[in-house]
Amino acid sequence: MTTLGIIGAGYIGTSVAKAAIVAGYEVVIANSRGPETLNDLIEELGPKARAATAAEAAAAADFALVAVPLGKLGGVPVEELSGKLVLDANNYYPQRDGRIAALDANESTTSELVQAHLPGAYVVKAFNNIPAAHIPVDGLPAGDPARRALPVAGDDKASKQDAIAFLSAIGFDAVDLGPLSESWRVERDTPAYVKRATVAELTALTTNVTRVQQV
Ligand SMILES: NC(=O)c1ccc[n+]([C@@H]2O[C@H](COP(=O)([O-])OP(=O)(O)OC[C@H]3O[C@@H](n4cnc5c(N)ncnc54)[C@H](OP(=O)(O)O)[C@@H]3O)[C@@H](O)[C@H]2O)c1
Repeated sequence: MTTLGIIGAGYIGTSVAKAAIVAGYEVVIANSRGPETLNDLIEELGPKARAATAAEAAAAADFALVAVPLGKLGGVPVEELSGKLVLDANNYYPQRDGRIAALDANESTTSELVQAHLPGAYVVKAFNNIPAAHIPVDGLPAGDPARRALPVAGDDKASKQDAIAFLSAIGFDAVDLGPLSESWRVERDTPAYVKRATVAELTALTTNVTRVQQV
């Protein structure tokens, strides 16, 4: 797993790209307007990054990150991501994404919607709970008592372990929330949302929590 395909070259996609490159990964990154619009970003990221279309980035990926607004999920390539670990950074902002009835009724989680769009992929929620700007600068070596923990959730245990290994490679511990259906514990407006926390602190924040409607 050396090549990370990134679908979405905004705040989150760019920040994860920077951290991944520092950790030694190759990055293939895409936006919606085409690779020719990403020249400045590729220059900034350096020789371990290249721009591509979304389909090309997905096809080149050993594993991928989906970092598009939730309302744009329908444009994320499906076939090219089949069989691969897909990290999902999505959060639900109705003002931006439009109202999504299944989320309003707490009948689904954002990550289950991503999984439904990518039925052949192994979706693992990651990076939804950290401001993008913190990703390249908050990492610490394994074993540091102050190391920040990020939540993960996923239905496939092996893929989730791969996601946790990637988080560790870029400087973060992980707290496993269980399957995607439990990922509401770190959705927007929960006590854990975008809080800097260690494993112990994040575990406490996500254990006794009531599910509320995201408004
Ligand atoms: N920003 C944060 O701090 C943060 C933190 C945690 C989670 N999140 C969540 O992560 C997701 C991404 O947020 P963001 O802040 O990174 O968004 P953003 O800065 O608005 O960037 C979105 C990116 O997605 C691209 N895109 C849209 N549709 C696409 C498609 N079909 N194929 C390829 N690329 C596509 C856009 O390309 P164009 O510009 O060409 O349209 C843009 O590069 C959201 O769900 C957000 O809520 C954000």
